Amino acid sequence: MPEAPTTEPWAGTPPVPHSLRPGAKPEAYMAKIAEGDERLWVPIGRPQVEDVYSKPVWISPTLNMWADVLMAKKPCIVNRHYHPKPIWAYTISGKWAYLEHEWTATAGDFIFETPGESHTLVSYAHEDPMKVFFVVSGPLMWLDEHGNSVGHYDVFDYMKDARAHYESNGIGGAYLDSLIR
Ligand SMILES: [Fe+2]
Repeated sequence: MPEAPTTEPWAGTPPVPHSLRPGAKPEAYMAKIAEGDERLWVPIGRPQVEDVYSKPVWISPTLNMWADVLMAKKPCIVNRHYHPKPIWAYTISGKWAYLEHEWTATAGDFIFETPGESHTLVSYAHEDPMKVFFVVSGPLMWLDEHGNSVGHYDVFDYMKDARAHYESNGIGGAYLDSLIR
């Protein structure tokens, strides 16, 4: 049961019985996804970039997708890549952009990245770290500055990196498994 109602007009309404079909996986809930235990932030970025981290919040190996909060603590080129699949983004804090576009995103801004797009993700100097909630469809194809593919990264790379990080810092690999749906 969620928190009990007080003055809400729906007080007394019963929950739907048998809400989860047999075989369905449970929902996922994570409070305050952009905050919390520092150990949950996985150093990320290929090629490796300092001060860039990803906190996974949902992982789907069968869809080759994941959702995360991407954080850049300093202004930097976060990475450069090509997307064969769609991406959704919501800006939580900081300032960021793609060099290939007109806009500069700050808190509250939404972006949809269409399949077929190459771009260079940069974070700006800002009083708050860049934190962006992304729903990512793998793979990402890493690009050099000429736009040539130099590698790839998908949900299996992501799980490997996160698992190694969590197993090395005491969080444990079971935590990563708890995010898989
Ligand atoms: Fe992207």
